[in-house]
Amino acid sequence: MVTGGAGGIGRALGRRFGREGMKVVLADVLAEPLDEATRDLQDEGIEAVGVVTDVTDYSSIESLAAEALARFGAVHVVCNNAGTGAVSEGYMWEHDLADWRWGIDVNVLGVVHGIKAFVPILLEQGEGHLVNTCSGNGGFAPIARGAMGGPATAVYPMTKAAVLCLTESLYSHLEMTGTRVRAHVLFPGGFLNTGIWESWRHRPQRYAATQRRRTPEATLASVVARFEAAGAQVEFAPLETVADQVVEGIQADRFWMMGPPTASDQIVAAKAASILGRGEPDYLVDVLSRHAQNAGEEGGKR
Ligand SMILES: NC(=O)c1ccc[n+]([C@@H]2O[C@H](COP(=O)([O-])OP(=O)(O)OC[C@H]3O[C@@H](n4cnc5c(N)ncnc54)[C@H](O)[C@@H]3O)[C@@H](O)[C@H]2O)c1
Repeated sequence: MVTGGAGGIGRALGRRFGREGMKVVLADVLAEPLDEATRDLQDEGIEAVGVVTDVTDYSSIESLAAEALARFGAVHVVCNNAGTGAVSEGYMWEHDLADWRWGIDVNVLGVVHGIKAFVPILLEQGEGHLVNTCSGNGGFAPIARGAMGGPATAVYPMTKAAVLCLTESLYSHLEMTGTRVRAHVLFPGGFLNTGIWESWRHRPQRYAATQRRRTPEATLASVVARFEAAGAQVEFAPLETVADQVVEGIQADRFWMMGPPTASDQIVAAKAASILGRGEPDYLVDVLSRHAQNAGEEGGKR
């Protein structure tokens, strides 16, 4: 079962799981793209079902779990992957409160809901894997200066820091029960061409902005243009490599689902050194200059 399965990483995960011989439940709040993604899998001969789900609504996730069980009788892999990207502008004290609520509800509470609804099912089965999609942006350290050159959103990295923390707790709580159910945290690698850069296009009415914007919403094209102007050659990493990370991570029972060492590893090391040395947080990321240095690596990702 994959939330956020209508697009980007979630859709790639669904396809890969199907090709591994698994039956697939795709869940997403966007009905039409979900339908298209599900039919795509079915056309490949994959047994797949799409369930319209809003991860911010616990009863919706409960229905999803019930539907998955009714349809396939068991759930072995749960990917809490639905996410919304950076929409805030300005310094963090200027961010719209609606941006905070939307980001926290989808990226944090959505994962909490997935854990609460699905872990008891996996425990009952005695096996299974939960994969929570995190990001180096927040999971390791927040991007401080963003692709457009100004302060980056503080909402998104805060939610991803929470995803890491709650997945660590999940890992330890599962360990304490003695179960074989495992928790994993996914750090998608590379510059990815997904909908996350333009999440604002599907902003739900109940999180409607309450402040007038001063700058245009970012688009993937505008971000790429900024990177190129800063001297970075933008190359998109295939989404299949993220799916590989997940399948290999499950097979190896690996908590940290990360690609090969990249600039993010240096941030982790610099952060550890800063903490241990009681120093300033000088590891905070200026994404444009990092991306210019590490074109093709992890810089710039959401
Ligand atoms: N793209 C990247 O570079 C990148 C990097 C690191 C982490 N991530 C994370 O990967 C995950 C997938 O994002 P993506 O890049 O594939 O973007 P995406 O926008 O293509 O996919 C996210 C999906 O989540 C769905 N979604 C949003 N709100 C929802 C809700 N309330 N209920 C159910 N579904 C909802 C969207 O409709 C969309 O289909 C996110 O958690 C994102 O934060 C992405």
